This record gives sequence, C-alpha cells and structure tokens, in this order.
Amino acid sequence: MLAHLIAAMPEQALDAAVRAALQLVTGTYGLAVLDAARPEAIVVARNGSPVVLGIGEREMFVASDAAALVRHTRSVVYLDDGEVALVRADGYETATLDGGPTAKTPSTISWTSEAFDKGEFAHFMRKEIAEQPEAVGRTLSGRLEPRFQTTHLGGIELAAHELLDIRRVKILGCGSAYIAGAIGAHLIEQLARLPAHAEPASEFRYRNPVIERDTLYIAVSQSGETFDTLAAVQEVKRKGGRVLGIVNVVGSTIARECGRGIYLHAGPEIAVVSTKTFTCTAVALALLAIHLGRIRDLSTAAGSRLLAALAALPGQIDGIIAREAEVAHLAKRLVACEHAYFVGRSAGHAVAMEGALKLKEVSYLHAEAYSAAELKHGPLALISPETPTVAVIPRDDLYTKNVSTIEEIRARRGPVLAVTHPGDLPAAVDAAFAVPASEPELDPILLNIPLQLLAYHVALKRGCDIDKPRNLAKSVTVE
Ligand code: AGP
Repeated sequence: MLAHLIAAMPEQALDAAVRAALQLVTGTYGLAVLDAARPEAIVVARNGSPVVLGIGEREMFVASDAAALVRHTRSVVYLDDGEVALVRADGYETATLDGGPTAKTPSTISWTSEAFDKGEFAHFMRKEIAEQPEAVGRTLSGRLEPRFQTTHLGGIELAAHELLDIRRVKILGCGSAYIAGAIGAHLIEQLARLPAHAEPASEFRYRNPVIERDTLYIAVSQSGETFDTLAAVQEVKRKGGRVLGIVNVVGSTIARECGRGIYLHAGPEIAVVSTKTFTCTAVALALLAIHLGRIRDLSTAAGSRLLAALAALPGQIDGIIAREAEVAHLAKRLVACEHAYFVGRSAGHAVAMEGALKLKEVSYLHAEAYSAAELKHGPLALISPETPTVAVIPRDDLYTKNVSTIEEIRARRGPVLAVTHPGDLPAAVDAAFAVPASEPELDPILLNIPLQLLAYHVALKRGCDIDKPRNLAKSVTVE
C-alpha cells in the first residue's frame, strides 16, 4: 500500500515523494524505500520503529539495530521519529517530514565484532549466561564508592537535594525488564525506605496514569527500543514527570528519550531471551537503591556491607555457572512434564517469575509463577505428581513460611525442586541447588542464575531452537 502511495505522489525526487506520502499516513514504521529505476539512493524514515544509519568508507548502511552494523562500521546515526534520510554511498542528508533539514551527530559503537560470535558455545543464550561475571563487573565498574559507603551514578544527573525530594519510585518495563524492575522495587523499598513499585509498561501507558511531581519514574529496557516502554516514557514526560532510563544499548531510543540514567555496559545480547541484561539490570537497580538509601537512612555500615556484597557477585556467579552439570541433572526432572509451577515470596516471587518466563520462552513448557503465599488460595488444586514445582527458598526471614508451602505441595504428591542456600534441606524437597549466600537484599540476583541454566538445559533436552524461540523477537518495536 505504502509503496503504491509513494509511487502516486507528484514529487519527482524519491525523498520528496516519501515525505509527501508519509504526511498522509498514520501509524508506526521504520522504512527503507528504493526506486528500482534509480538504485543509487535509499530513502529511510522512522516513526516509532528504530532506524540507524552506518557510516563507512565511501559506503553507507541502513539497519534497524546498531548490532547489525558492527561488522562494517562503528560510526552510526540514529534517526528520530518524524525524520527522513536520503542515503547514498558517499553520505546522507536528514530532514523532517516537511523537508526542513535536521542536524545529526554520529555516535560510536563500542562493541567489538567478536562479541557477535558464539565462540566455543553452542548457543548465544549459553554464551551470554557465561558472560555474566564480566558483564556484572562492567555494570559495577567505577560506580562503587567505598570511601563514602555509597555508589557513584553520574548519568542520573540528579543532585542529592533533588533525590531527597523523591517520595515514591515507579519502575516500568516489559517482560524480563519488568521483572528485574520488581526486584529493584524491593531493593529500593528496603534500602531507601521509599514506596517503590514495578508495573508492566504495556499496562501503564494505557491507563491514563497519575503522574506525580515527587515520584521518580524509571524505564528499564535492555534494547532501549521496546515500543510500549518508550510510549510509557513519553506519557510520563508529557505529563511533566521525571524519568531515568536503565538501558543496555547506548544511544538507543529510550536512552535518548530519557536523557539520563544508568547504562548496563553488559555488551550485546544476541539471544532472544534476556539473561545477562536481566542480571545487570538488577545490579544497576541495586546501585541506585544504595544511592537513594545512603541519602536517607541507610547507615555507613549497611552501605559498606552492600558494596562488599556487590563486589563479590561476579566471583559468586562464576562459581554457580561452574556447577552447570548439577543444574543439567535437575533439568531431567522437568523435560517430560507439561506444566510446572515456580513459587517464591517477596523478591523470591520475582525470581520465580523470571525462572518461569525463561522456561516458557526457550523450552515451550507451560510454566506458571505464583506467590508461594497465594498458592493455597487456588492453584494448589492443580498440584499433582505430574506437576513439579520449582521453589525459590532463600534462608531469609520467610524461610519457615516457604518450608510450609513445600510441605503443602508434597502432601498433594507434587515433586519439588528447590533453589536455595547451603544448609540442611526440608525432607520434603526432591532435589535442590544451593547458591552461595550474598547479603539478603542481593540474594535474588544469585538465585536467578541456576534458573537460567535450568531453562537452557530443559530446552536443550527438548531439542528447541534456543536462540530463536518461535513467535518471539529480540526487540518488540511494535504495539
Ligand atoms: C526476555 O527474555 C524477553 N525476550 C522479553 O520479555 C524482554 O525482556 C522484553 O521484550 C523487554 O525487552 P527490552 O529489555 O529490550 O525492553
């Protein structure tokens, strides 16, 4: 349809015809238009969906993601909504839809092309799980301030007195980004004693949300291109709210729209499912929680304790990944089942949500996450010997409550696999994987790692296309 509309425009020049046609249409697009009779130029345009130009040596590239350009060039230009570019081998010009020229400054991609190879690994998902110790190290790099028992977050561009005025925190994201936000909300509430809540951006944007002056909004997105999260950011800004981005891809649309925030520096994530960026997002939110906490009532002793725990995470994650064979063994118990529950309480519930989402995405096994406390209010009816439960049971204040839940499941002859901490296990557990203890606030970050490996090994045994699960895309740039 659009091609016909462009062809029907009276304008002779292709860029002018595209601009004229686009003034007549509504909707979201990332377009590349080529005239077969004049192949020396491509006209690209963006509204909602990402378009990026790559600047090479006497050659130009067009893509929807900077990752596609890394093998050819590091110099890129991101189009903004409502912009059109005329691209030739020797350069480009950008303009608004009504033809007014726009000025663009090229950015440099820092990722290396090796980061886009699987190397020794069979799948990108497995490679990216293995990369977590280094990725977390980069998220932490330069941000721990042991001298003042706090964290340094230059990119948030909010002075201490502005942070002190915050009364509430709202975290927005989709899928795994939302779930990492739920872990972050727990951290912020515990460490900064600020009411904090995570909400799917895809719900928030449609419910005419109340935007408050003293609420800090945080948009979480590894790609920085998720349409619903972008729309939520724009809604917050339209109503005068303050929003920070927690994003992996430097220069991405959400990062630019927020203008300030925390970059993950996790390196490119190629597998459709998020693993290292989930972990790094939780770490970035922990850095922010400590920062907000130390401006309020978090003591210097607590600050020191948490900084030391953050610094220990890369080594601890490495240790968990080294025990992959144990998780692969546990995976055998899930391969043949059709349904599984994942349960946990408090931040452990968010860990259960992420474990279930990962298993669903890569193994196509129906997995449902539920608050362990809510199980008896309904879902217990579905527990049977054929329905295993993965229980997230850290040795925290809620440990005995979690043990009671496990006993309720076992009483219905439901198999239980636990992800927990070292120590004696309740007799009712069929099998378990113990992660090293961190500080209780950071435990969710480590408890999630074996669940990533669990999803990977179940999918491997079920012969699934792990890096490209059916029906899913890496960046969801449409509504
Ligand atoms: C994660 O494994 C999923 N593929 C998906 O839920 C993802 O987290 C979501 O689409 C948000 O993506 P983003 O972080 O790029 O915004």
